[in-house]
Amino acid sequence: MTRPLDFVRSIKAKLGLVIVGTVAVTTVVLAQGKAWGWGIELRVIVATALGLVAVQLLARGMTSPLREMASAASAMSRGEYSRRVRATSRDEVGELARAFNSMAGELAETDRMRRDFVANVSHELRTPIGALQALLENLADGIEPADPRALETALEQTRRLGRLVTQLLDLSRLEAGAVPLDVSEFAVRPLLERVTREAALGERLVRLKVCVEPGELRAHGDPERVHQVVANLLDNALRHSPPDGRVWLSAHASRPGVATIEVCDEGPGIPPAELQRVFERYERGDAALGASDGGTGLGLAIARWIVDAHGGAIRAEAREPNGCRMVVELPA
Ligand SMILES: Nc1ncnc2c1ncn2[C@@H]1O[C@H](COP(=O)(O)OP(=O)(O)OP(=O)(O)O)[C@@H](O)[C@H]1O
Ligand SMILES: [Mg+2]
Repeated sequence: MTRPLDFVRSIKAKLGLVIVGTVAVTTVVLAQGKAWGWGIELRVIVATALGLVAVQLLARGMTSPLREMASAASAMSRGEYSRRVRATSRDEVGELARAFNSMAGELAETDRMRRDFVANVSHELRTPIGALQALLENLADGIEPADPRALETALEQTRRLGRLVTQLLDLSRLEAGAVPLDVSEFAVRPLLERVTREAALGERLVRLKVCVEPGELRAHGDPERVHQVVANLLDNALRHSPPDGRVWLSAHASRPGVATIEVCDEGPGIPPAELQRVFERYERGDAALGASDGGTGLGLAIARWIVDAHGGAIRAEAREPNGCRMVVELPA
């Protein structure tokens, strides 16, 4: 169905046009009726009827988006996010309809991620819990001796569980705004060195290099939280590095008032289409979905949250010739 006034940019102008149109129709009917010798009653009746028809035709599409939005909103409250409103008009109602559509899209996306997340987390929790339970049953039944190796395995599984739960708690506390930043000025080099010392290299031969320029570079922020960000980035870089790859942790003053920390690796990198998406909550790269490396897709979401709270910026870039470069900008 055509909406004749869709091109008009404001509701006021539309109403004006509707009035002008109706008055024109009425005037024509009154004058023409007189010429045809119609009585005044007949002219008024016909003019009113045609005026109403003119309003119907001209105003078509002015209010229907509102009705559509109302019905789509109630569908949404039942969990149905696929409905969209026709947003062809260029006035305020059209703008509202477009905003509504994009909100519906975002909600659908959030809903999808929430579902994925529950599935992911249940899976991540089930694997270590299953392994732990089997091991403990064997120990309890005396099938396996309680030697240090068995206990170390059990410990490793509990660590993994602990890490997962801590991340979940962190993220929900961060999002609830319950974690005030303890801002101070701190030196960047010792922080990077501490992260490097604590990095879980395991048996890997990855070579880690730290480079801070100028050496006494200082940044402004909550050192504990920044440590958490860098540790997350380093954890990813190590996890995605080839066995004998190199990982660089560097910091420099990119422009006045900004301290930039970079973490680079020689792994497969992140596909261009995912560079933005990896910072979303619960989002794991397509390549990581099949892997059972214990990732939950929370690390970068937490990192971005912290960096944003500092008024900084974080982004992922492709590194030449291969690998991934994570760039964090903090106020200096
Ligand atoms: N250095 C990197 N190289 C290649 N891909 C990366 C790198 N860092 C992150 N990614 C991709 O981004 C995704 C999201 O990372 P994120 O740190 O948020 O989650 P995770 O590492 O899977 O889990 P978690 O950090 O919560 O244990 C990863 O699953 C991976 O696909
Ligand atoms: Mg990670």
